[in-house]
Amino acid sequence: MRLKLDQKKMTEEEAELLAKIDLSKLPKHVAIIMDGNGRWASKRHLPRISGHQRGIRSVREIITFAREIGVKHLTLYAFSNENWSRPIKEVSRLMILLENYLIRELDTMMSNGIRFRAIGQIDRLQSSVSKLIQSVEEKTKQNDKMTLVLALSYGGRTEIVDAVKKVAEAIQKEQISLKDLDETLFSTYLYTDDLPDPDLMIRTSGEIRISNFFLWQVAYTELYFTKTLWPDFRKRDFLLALLDYQGRERRFGLVSGKSSVSYSEKQIEGLI
Ligand code: FPP
Repeated sequence: MRLKLDQKKMTEEEAELLAKIDLSKLPKHVAIIMDGNGRWASKRHLPRISGHQRGIRSVREIITFAREIGVKHLTLYAFSNENWSRPIKEVSRLMILLENYLIRELDTMMSNGIRFRAIGQIDRLQSSVSKLIQSVEEKTKQNDKMTLVLALSYGGRTEIVDAVKKVAEAIQKEQISLKDLDETLFSTYLYTDDLPDPDLMIRTSGEIRISNFFLWQVAYTELYFTKTLWPDFRKRDFLLALLDYQGRERRFGLVSGKSSVSYSEKQIEGLI
């Protein structure tokens, strides 16, 4: 597959890395924990918000690049449930950054065919922000080149509890019956009902943990950790993560080299 990329915007190293990627085997869904903005700022004796501001450059670069090379879904973990406990000044500056980002990027999303989605407890956000989110979701809903998902006021455990509540309500209203409940049906009650599970999850800044992100969805996700702080994360770093991913063998619980045939319980009983 040939790509029409603006080579002028790429360094020689990035072009070389890109040439090594098999574009027909890209992860369909990449999720990123953008970590290290605060450390980036404190290393430079700057206020933490400068790290978040710089982080937006990486956000823009990675979204554009992911869209160009053909990643279909990109989720960025922008604000967790736990982040509400940060100093009020940092929280409100982050909300302003988010608002400005959505206002400024709407045209780019439209011209690049990017559908925008927000997941999390969006109603906890300031009403001006949640209204803006709704309107950007509405305006971009027909775009089909890439889905950009922002996880905002998001927590993986809360997502599961919210799904359990919805399931219980559906059972109570006799919309579904308990005997029909399986993993596939349960997934439709998660915030990510219309998204595939992530194939690759990247976390920046050297921390090696999931931090309550996509707890259900990462069952078979390949995890990639880099020491690079989010504001320094560029195309090069994204390409390194993709290359690493393409070097992995995804077995989904099967034996190496076997195809992903799924056996029924009866067939398995027959094998034992
Ligand atoms: C984690 O770094 C990052 C966040 C809590 C916020 C991420 C937000 C942005 C990148 C900017 C806004 C995003 C959009 C999409 C408009 P940290 O502050 O925890 O860093 P530290 O661990 O070094 O302190």
